[in-house]
Amino acid sequence: MTKIIAIDGPASVGKSTLAKRLSKKFKAPVLYSGKLYRAVALEIIKQKINLSNTKEILKCINYINLDNLNSDELYSSEVDNVSSIISAKKKIRNKLITFQRSFPKKYGNNVKFAIIEGRDIGTIIFPGADYKIFMWAASEIRAKRRYEQLRKNGKNVRYSKIFSEINVRDQKDMTRKIAPLMPAANSVLLDTSYIDIEQALNAIKNIIQKTKTI
Ligand code: DC
Repeated sequence: MTKIIAIDGPASVGKSTLAKRLSKKFKAPVLYSGKLYRAVALEIIKQKINLSNTKEILKCINYINLDNLNSDELYSSEVDNVSSIISAKKKIRNKLITFQRSFPKKYGNNVKFAIIEGRDIGTIIFPGADYKIFMWAASEIRAKRRYEQLRKNGKNVRYSKIFSEINVRDQKDMTRKIAPLMPAANSVLLDTSYIDIEQALNAIKNIIQKTKTI
């Protein structure tokens, strides 16, 4: 049976980079669950739907196609903001559960592992996941990494703005009533404040290869 690797953690902690590298190493499909919230947010923005109109927002979920979540449009400050707001809505989260739980069955045929990263994967979506990783790094460090990455890509950004946006998102993710960001029971805490991606990858590879299941 396909084993589930759940990776949770705050914004800009490196979950998707780690998930991508693990996916390459173990030839495992990966779902970046934040993209589901982003896809809904993008549709809301395009259709100019009011953020209090949950009924119309729920309809946007029908436009999601798991095979097509690669648009660059999913990554803008506006989408960051709207996805963060709608991710606190219970009905929206509940409707997105089905997408996430169907992922290993849909894409995990004949593969040993399926990877899902997000905020509530080990707590709500797959509480019985075989491996649960909770990634962490201080917000100053995450903001600095994000800032350097954006500058490297030629973007003219301010560190103070990125730092404050990360703190706002942390606050929203960690204090919402439904599915707040927190380490799942039995999760492995991976603090990446002072280690790089290779070290993080090695730590997780060791856990996966040396433990049967957590
Ligand atoms: O991981 P990300 O930045 O792409 O996520 C986009 C937004 O979706 C972010 O505000 C947090 C939210 N999210 C969530 O609430 N639960 C998840 N499993 C994944 C993302």
